[in-house]
Amino acid sequence: MKAPMPGFSRNAEGQACLADAPLTELLAAARTPTPAYLYDVGAISNTMESLTAALGDERHVAAYSVKANGAGSIIRAVASAGAGADVVSGAELEVARACGVQADRIVMSGVGKTDEELDLAISSRILSVQVESVEEIDRVAARARALGTSVRIGLRINPSVLADTHAHIATGHDKAKFGIALDDVGRAWELADAGAPHVEAIGVSTHVGSMLMTPEPYLQSARAVCTVARARRAGGKRLDYVSFGGGYGIDQGERPASPPWEFVREALQLLAQEGLEDLRLVVEPGRSIVGPHGVLVARVVQTKISGGRRWAMVDAGMNDLLRPALYQARHRIEPLDHPPGGREWRVVGPVCETADDFGDHALGDSPPSAVVIRDAGAYGFAMASQYNGRPLPSEVFAAEGRVRSVSRSPGRTGWVHSRLRA
Ligand SMILES: Cc1ncc(COP(=O)(O)O)c(C=O)c1O
Repeated sequence: MKAPMPGFSRNAEGQACLADAPLTELLAAARTPTPAYLYDVGAISNTMESLTAALGDERHVAAYSVKANGAGSIIRAVASAGAGADVVSGAELEVARACGVQADRIVMSGVGKTDEELDLAISSRILSVQVESVEEIDRVAARARALGTSVRIGLRINPSVLADTHAHIATGHDKAKFGIALDDVGRAWELADAGAPHVEAIGVSTHVGSMLMTPEPYLQSARAVCTVARARRAGGKRLDYVSFGGGYGIDQGERPASPPWEFVREALQLLAQEGLEDLRLVVEPGRSIVGPHGVLVARVVQTKISGGRRWAMVDAGMNDLLRPALYQARHRIEPLDHPPGGREWRVVGPVCETADDFGDHALGDSPPSAVVIRDAGAYGFAMASQYNGRPLPSEVFAAEGRVRSVSRSPGRTGWVHSRLRA
């Protein structure tokens, strides 16, 4: 198994580096102003290779969760490393297909898929449409009938497990909107079977939540999937796959996280213990593949010392990186040109919201001209908006010391024109 390269490092001069090059050099080569996301595509691809190696058998699928980061450069890299895709919209499905992900390695989840999205999934012949309610089954069957074809489905169950994570990213407990309650699974199979020949029920899936630091909560929900799978088989019915979802956490400087291949190794062991080793295992990792290998670089545009507090206002805000405002996530923020240490500064963005606040960080006695916000590769650009008339940030894709491609910000005029046309 290839050892994944570190996403972020400091060179001998103390400069912040990614993809084996100082971030300042990558930004200059990309001729890109801040704020800008930079990604180490080589490290992302290595991480996915390690995960597919841990799965061991080509019939298993590491379905990269496109919602974490839908950039074409990243999806093409993980697809070349053997990944399938987990998509939650028609647009994500289109991007995954256009980036070379094989249709029969794509699963689609989502509690409110539109008819158009279902039609696209059905006609693309993806591995499975993972239905999230009993009621959805009839609609999926009707769409397949209307298209004169059949659709493979999986039941996404709600395992009734409360993962130890932020409430907004816990998805597998009984008050969450996701999945089919265990009590309703029998009814769901009946409806799915009644949909034949237009519906082929082939799988069971779940996703218990994100930022799981150890495999235990993952295995707890996976056991619920196995119980449903065994019961289905005991009834003499066909079953091809189980998906245990994604959710592998990353170390953001506060506590260590088990690496993604450890989750996968334990998942395979569980399948064997449950006598289900002949099934195809699908896993749906997002954050653990891209999170550590992306950073957001911002300039300090203003400082203020007042009421005993030192403020550093940067040119990246909650519109560029929403996670701190949405999930109270803490990202390490460090000077770009030297290691962190010394006095703390309260780092905030320019957006007119109190929640546009990245917390206190040791930037030193005098503030640096630019900072790097670490572990921002997942759910960063993917959640960016143009709130406050702010343009989307640029993205720079690097590998082995050089810039591979740049996706430039549409800039201020892009926003102005779009609003004038509205
Ligand atoms: C169904 C499903 N699968 C996979 C994922 C990916 O999770 P993560 O990025 O934490 O691995 C999510 C995230 O919300 C999800 O909802």
